[in-house]
Formats: sequence, structure tokens, C-alpha cells
Amino acid sequence: MNMELHTPLLQVDDLHVEFGDPRDSLEVIRGVSLRVEAGRTMGIVGESGSGKSVTVMSLLGLLPKAGRVTAGTAHFMGQDLLELSERRMQSVRGGEIGMIFQDPMTALNPIMSIGQQIDESLRRHSPDLNRRSRHKRILELLDMVRIPRPDQRVNQHPHELSGGMRQRVMIAIAMANNPRLILADEPTTALDVTVQAQILRLLLEVQRESDAALVLITHDLGVIAEVADHATVMYAGTVVETGTVRDVFHRPSHPYTVGLLQSRLTLTTGERQELPTIPGQPPDLRLLPTGCAYRPRCHIAGSREICRTDRPPLNEVGPAHAAACFFSDELAPLQGANV
Ligand SMILES: Nc1ncnc2c1ncn2[C@@H]1O[C@H](COP(=O)(O)OP(=O)(O)OP(=O)(O)O)[C@@H](O)[C@H]1O
Ligand code: SF4
Ligand SMILES: [Mg+2]
Repeated sequence: MNMELHTPLLQVDDLHVEFGDPRDSLEVIRGVSLRVEAGRTMGIVGESGSGKSVTVMSLLGLLPKAGRVTAGTAHFMGQDLLELSERRMQSVRGGEIGMIFQDPMTALNPIMSIGQQIDESLRRHSPDLNRRSRHKRILELLDMVRIPRPDQRVNQHPHELSGGMRQRVMIAIAMANNPRLILADEPTTALDVTVQAQILRLLLEVQRESDAALVLITHDLGVIAEVADHATVMYAGTVVETGTVRDVFHRPSHPYTVGLLQSRLTLTTGERQELPTIPGQPPDLRLLPTGCAYRPRCHIAGSREICRTDRPPLNEVGPAHAAACFFSDELAPLQGANV
């Protein structure tokens, strides 16, 4: 199937987000475009501060007060998420879009039992279910996320559960109303290393069973290689490369992607959770150079004038594969990328 000819489940175009007083604002998302296919998994990776969470928060209408979307569209199931009223957005969040964040303790309500919290979501988004059907569905969901003895656990409060169990509850809430899209922002980062893999496996299982699409933000390139269909690499509030995992890992077309992948190949498995570091400083958004934001760290820019003067657009470098570099074609395919 030609990916360009059909409508994706989510298509974000040229998203811009600013923080701060309009007279002294800082643009932190500087034209992000993303395309997520129904039922597929998109992995998003990029250094801390590159704009992964702010992008997702913008789509959900959950930006903090100081932040605002200044331009862009985000088409999802026939509507622009960025244009929705708060009322309609409340129905999409937890309804057609399920969310899983890094820290379940802050996302869960400490004074409500886990059963009540799932029930709240069912009552809001599935008003046709009566009390008995909701109770049945709650037990089903707890069972689906492999919480043992759901009939007893249903009355427990978040502090009575381990971090892994709490994240299972978050997954149950996210899946409660059969979402078409799950947005997961580092869903395992706050957990013990020993349970991270279990929770990720569980998330993928429930996603596959439900045929929902998944946007997975992670620092772990190995996870993207294993579970995602598509990968998007972000840098300084922009997308610098996007494509199928196979293309991005084997034919990286942006020097930043090359740097991430090359450093990953030299890491030992014990260090896999860390995003590889690239020589040079992560960008300060207030002091970005003119031209290409990656230039101070770029190993192929040399003294090329265009890298100093012009910002490289995200251009097609192959079918459904795009990169934001004027000299993509100089990058050789990467040997040894294990995909
Ligand atoms: N509430 C806020 N007020 C001001 N600036 C913010 C706020 N939240 C985020 N930012 C800025 O927006 C930019 C993008 O941040 P974001 O949280 O999206 O990064 P990230 O890619 O998710 O990083 P991490 O990997 O650390 O989670 C950063 O420069 C950050 O400082
Ligand atoms: S446009 Fe120039 S500076 Fe930017 S990544 Fe490509 S070669 Fe490097
Ligand atoms: Mg983040």
C-alpha cells in the first residue's frame, strides 16, 4: 500500500508551541509534523528537551498554562484536535485516545480505589453501560493487564500497589473505552528495571489485541527497534527524521540519527536504557544558531554556507522516509544496526 495515498489515523502538520509571556516567549515546538497509521506503533526518540512531551501534551489539550499552540493542525478521526472545545477534548481524552504517562502515582487519584478510577472513565465515556456491566468490564480490564485477583484488588488504593501494578492500572484506564490511539510518554522509565520489560510487553499485547495505534516516547532505541513500525527522531523542537524503523535504522539520513545509532552500537546491554550521548552540547532553545540547529554538533557540516544560513526542511529521502538535512545523501547506510 502506498502510505501517501490514504488518510492516516493521526496527521500532525507544522505544529508550533510557545511558552511564556507573549512579549518574551520561547518557541519550543518549531514546526513538528507526524503521521501515525491506524493500528501501528510510532516510536519517538530525542534528547531531553527536544519537545517530545510538549508535542503530546499539545495534542491532548494538556499544555501547562504558560504554553500555547501558535500554529499547526492535528487531524485525528475527521477532526482537528487543536481546534476542539475543552468539552469535546475531554471526551476524546480517555475515549478515542488513551494516555499513559511516566509516573502513575501523579496520574492516579490517591483517595480513590483503582476500581472507582476505572469506573469514572467508563461512566464518562461509555454512558450506555449500567453499573453491573461497568463492574464486569472493570474486572475484565484488571484481568487483561494481569493484575492477580481482580475482585480483591479492585478496592485497593494506589499506595497499596507496587509501581508496576500502578502502571498496569494506568494501562487498564487507558484501554477502558477501546481507544483508537494510545499516547505513551516514557511509560516504563519510572519503574524498576526488572519490571520495565514486563510492562512494555503488556502494553504491546493489549495494543495488538485492541488494534489501537500507539505513539511510544522512549529513550531506548532498542525498544523502538524491537516494537515500533515507524520511528521519529526529534531535535530542538523539530522532527529531524521520520520513516519506517527499518529505513531509519539502516539508512539514517540525518547526522543526529547517525550519531544516536552509532553510539548505541557501542553501548553494552546493561546501559541500554540511556539515550546515547552525542558529542557537543544539547541545544539551548534561546540561543539557537541561524540556519540548521544541529550545525554546532554536526560531523558533516564543515564550513558549508547553507548550513549557516538556511534551516533545512523535512524533505523526502525515500518512500515514506524524510529527513531535515541538506546533505542527507552523503550519509552511508549503517552497518550493524540490529533491526
Ligand atoms: N511548563 C513549561 N514552561 C516552560 N518551558 C517548558 C515547560 N515544559 C516544557 N518546557 C520546555 O519545552 C521544551 C520541550 O520540553 P519537553 O518536556 O517536551 O522535552 P522532552 O523531549 O519531553 O524531554 P524529556 O526527554 O526530558 O522528557 C524544553 O525546552 C522545556 O524546557
Ligand atoms: S543541514 Fe548541514 S548542519 Fe544540518 S544536519 Fe545537515 S549537514 Fe549538518
Ligand atoms: Mg518528556
